[in-house]
Amino acid sequence: MSIKIENLTHIYMKGTPFEKKAIDNVTLEIKDGEFIALIGHTGSGKSTLIQHINGLLKPDSGKIIIDNVDITSKNVKLSAIRKKVGLVFQYPEYQLFEETIEKDIAFGPKNLGLSEEEISSRIKRAMNIVGLDYEKYKDKSPFELSGGQKRRVAIAGVVAMEPQVLILDEPTAGLDPKGRDDILSNISDLHREYNMTIILVSHSMEDVAKLASRILVMHHGKCILDGEPINIFREIDTLESVGLAVPQVTYLTKKLRDKGFNISGDIFTIEQAKKELLKVLKK
Ligand SMILES: Nc1ncnc2c1ncn2[C@@H]1O[C@H](COP(=O)(O)OP(=O)(O)O)[C@@H](O)[C@H]1O
Ligand SMILES: [Mg+2]
Repeated sequence: MSIKIENLTHIYMKGTPFEKKAIDNVTLEIKDGEFIALIGHTGSGKSTLIQHINGLLKPDSGKIIIDNVDITSKNVKLSAIRKKVGLVFQYPEYQLFEETIEKDIAFGPKNLGLSEEEISSRIKRAMNIVGLDYEKYKDKSPFELSGGQKRRVAIAGVVAMEPQVLILDEPTAGLDPKGRDDILSNISDLHREYNMTIILVSHSMEDVAKLASRILVMHHGKCILDGEPINIFREIDTLESVGLAVPQVTYLTKKLRDKGFNISGDIFTIEQAKKELLKVLKK
């Protein structure tokens, strides 16, 4: 299922002194099964862009074409789009409301009109993939959980709808390093096991370096870089000029290279750095 965004522009509070062009003529295509990281400084337009992909926001101009259907046209049902495109908002744990975890995760699938059996199997699968033991947690109140666990319940609720595209808006915001790593590894499992197209919004290069197959960099409502991580991380100057940084290990290995060590220039994960450094040290 491909997503085509054509000349998309979104202006908030048009015609007022507070008018703000949040998306400025963006064109891009996302292919089936891609793992995209959407990166940019706060205010660059990431949340505005993704809310167009499930029809939550309407563009001022431009088109969003999903599965060959222009979802901005009048007769398109939003419910049909939301079956295909699942969106996990920033801080989704604030939207938990049911008395048990099982009921909370069941909410979306119930609205799809699935059988009880199908709903139950989806809940189990979704909980398993976000690392929550079904028997242990199903009857607990979501409000008894830690911040990271609550967030995993919220993600499971969207996953249980089994959308073809899953968009997550800053899913690691405000979590401690362990919580962050858990969520990121859940997302990686989702991509693998459900074959979902993933769009992961983040302002941390560190988070996405290992996961994404493609990185889109937003700045002032435009998409200024688009490519594989290896090519994006070579653009250190451009990234820094828009308030972003490459991963710490990339700086470290660059410094070592500047000092004369024979180290590859394309390192952006700790694992790669370890391998490369051990190679150099053994010589
Ligand atoms: N509801 C809104 N009303 C007015 N301006 C908004 C609204 N939401 C976002 N903006 C503005 O639009 C721009 C893009 O915001 P947003 O898409 O939230 O960026 P990001 O998710 O990258 O932080 C920012 O300048 C922001 O202040
Ligand atoms: Mg945002």
